[in-house]
Order: sequence, then C-alpha cells, then structure tokens
Amino acid sequence: MIEHKNIVLGVCGGIAAFKAIELVRLLTKAGADVHVVMTQAAREFVTPLTFQTLSSHPVHTELFNLIAEQEIGHISLADRADLFIVAPATANIIGKIASGIADDMLTTTIMATKAPVLFAPAMNVNMFTNPIYQENEQKLRRLGYLFEAPVSGGLACGWEGMGKLAAPEAIFEAALSALTDKDLAGRNILITAGPTREEIDPVRYISNHSSGKMGYALARAAQQRGARVLLISGPTALAKPVGVHRISVTSAADMLREVIGNAADYDVVIKAAAVADYRPQLRNSTKLKKKGDTTTIELVRNPDILAGLGKMEQPPFLVGFAAETDALVKNSLEKLCEKNLDIIVANDVSGTDAGFNVDTNRAHLFFKDGSSSEYGLMTKDRLAGIILDHIAARLSKD
Ligand code: PMT
Repeated sequence: MIEHKNIVLGVCGGIAAFKAIELVRLLTKAGADVHVVMTQAAREFVTPLTFQTLSSHPVHTELFNLIAEQEIGHISLADRADLFIVAPATANIIGKIASGIADDMLTTTIMATKAPVLFAPAMNVNMFTNPIYQENEQKLRRLGYLFEAPVSGGLACGWEGMGKLAAPEAIFEAALSALTDKDLAGRNILITAGPTREEIDPVRYISNHSSGKMGYALARAAQQRGARVLLISGPTALAKPVGVHRISVTSAADMLREVIGNAADYDVVIKAAAVADYRPQLRNSTKLKKKGDTTTIELVRNPDILAGLGKMEQPPFLVGFAAETDALVKNSLEKLCEKNLDIIVANDVSGTDAGFNVDTNRAHLFFKDGSSSEYGLMTKDRLAGIILDHIAARLSKD
C-alpha cells in the first residue's frame, strides 16, 4: 500500500520537528520513497543532513535553487507526490495555504500538488484554539485537505493542553489510510483476534500461542479501507489499531457473549481468533495444590461461536480460519461446510514460519461457491489485504 509510493514530507519550524525524524524512519521502513522539504524555520531545529541521511535523498530547502530549478523543483516534486504530509504543521503554514499564499519551497509545492495533503498540526494551545486558526483548518478540511489532530499534553512552551504533535505512528497510520481506496466504506465488520484463556484456578489457565497479529492486521486494514470495525480481542500485547473499536475478552464464554451480542449490527464477521475448544469443568477458587505424580482436569466443550453465527436466520457474511498441521484441505472444507461459512482461510501451520505468533502466514482460501485461491508465504498485513479484497468483491456483487 505504501511501498514504492512517493511521499513528500514538509517539515515546519517547531520543537516537534525532531519527531518528523521518526516519521521518515517509519515511512522508509515501509518501503516509501520520502522526499523532505524543510522551511527555513525548521532548519533552526533540525539539520537537513539528518533528513537527507534517513531519506537517502537531498533535502529541498530553497525555492530558487539553480540545480533543482533546471527541472522546476517545486513542480516536479509536486507532480511526483502520491501523498504530501506536513508534520509538524504550524499555524503559519496552515494559514498560508488556507489563504493561497505560495512564497517558499514548501508552500509552492503544496499549492502545486494534486496529491492528497495530510497536515499534522503542532502549536501552542492558545494558537490552536484561536478562531483564526480554527477557521483556516475548517476551510482546508472543507477543501479536502486531511488532518491528523494534535493531542493534549505538556507543550514545549510550558502550557498544558491541545497542540502537541500526534505520535509519528498515528501520522503514519493516517498516511496509510490516505493512500488506501475506501472500498469498504459503509461496511460494518466484526473481527475476532488472539487466543482465549480458560482458567483452571486464580493463577493457571489453558490457552494457545495466538498473538492476535492476524486479526489485528485485518482490523487495521479494514478500518483503513473505510469500514467501521469492531475488534473483539483475546489477551494480546498488541496496541489497539487507530480508529478501531476494541472489546477485550478473556475466555471463550466472554468472546461468545460479545460476538453474539454485536453480530446483528455487522455485515461481515471474520473469526481469526484461536478459541479454546474446551474449558475446565470447574474453576477452582483457590490455587490448586500439587498432590501425587499425575493429575486430571476434567474439560467440557466450549460452544462454537462461528457455528452459532452460521445458524442465524440471516447470518452476516462469515469468514472463518482453520489452522491445521495436517489434512489442511479436508479439515478446512469440513469447517467451511459445517459452520456455513462464505470463506475459510486454511492456514498451514506445519512450519515455524507461518501461523501462530509470527508475522507471516501461508494460506489457502476456499469459498462457498467451490472455488479456491492458494497463496504462498506472505506477511499477515498482505494476507489481510487479500482476504479483504475477496470480501469486498463478493459484497459488491450482492
Ligand atoms: O494470532 P496469530 O498469532 O496471528 O495467529 C493467527 C491464527 C493462526 C490464530 C489464525 O490465523 C487462525 O488460524 N485462527 C484459527 C485457529 C483455529 O484453528 O481455529 P479452529 O479450527 O479451532 O476453529 C475454526 C474457526 O472457528 C475459527 O475461525 C475459530 O475462530 C472459530 N471457532 C472455533 C472454536 C470455537 N469454540 N468457536 C469459534 O468461533
């Protein structure tokens, strides 16, 4: 999505300019080609050499640069951009663009670009709440310019309040979203992720190695494609994807309650979670003491959440996962049929490079109509995109 994209990053003068360094790192790590434009004031805070080293491109600073102007620097940069980000964006730059002023390299390039422009403002709280600034921001929003809002906190000027530059990770996510087609706009998608934990006593539980990475990748990608996303997540160490509503659960019974309670409001349910099939029949209220060389824990079957959804009178579009170490096709096709699914993602977890708690998956998708598509090893982000492509294509036929 962001790989090989040309991103022009405008850096304005403010103490938050140093945070743009981390943003360049995130963008280049994701494969983007980043070209930095710095205002004169920005150069008071960070040197162009820092951005040049990280972006592997010369930094643009002067409007009338004899070498760059052989190809009319600001126009070629404006034309080349897939996305323009201004971070930190000062009240000054926002005021200038809102008024059509183009008097330096950054403002002329923004005025000349047809690419989406994403502003990440950072300023003193009183400047931010000033009606002149607010009017300028609203004007730009109406014209289609994008904003990643600042956050509240202690400001460099000593004031406390709104005006702190959003985290580089949040600006990065907003950039991804800006570059993504909104083909799932208007869709409501419920996604489950992670393991469940079935408690034996206050200190022990039965669980599995699911990290939640697959489900979270789906949630992030669906949100970026315009869907309203509810993520029902078992215990994981992952941060909530931006713009996604998350309900945290522990056991299969918790997950069942939340999924069934919400399913009617969703067009699509994707069950990437690894739900425990069994739970201890009794949860001991105190820590079990060891006695003897062996012990037995009586387990009882958990309800199958996905199968329950498949039995609804008007089930949502259902996508299940099957992680299999053997008989992948047979087991997955049985689950597709028994749970009345539209798609099953058959996950070959026989190797160490795919499935639980790694960044990659090797999957075979089987569809209700009998067709299938097989994919080799790829990142979970990429697989999430492919799964959503199939869902979007099938929903658009309805
Ligand atoms: O979280 P990661 O580390 O990224 O790993 C991802 C994953 C391997 C956990 C995930 O991609 C995956 O394959 N999840 C399904 C695991 C599995 O084998 O599920 P299952 O075969 O037990 O169940 C099949 C389907 O029914 C699943 O969609 C499951 O969510 C659902 N199910 C299962 C049992 C149950 N009681 N209720 C359910 O809804």
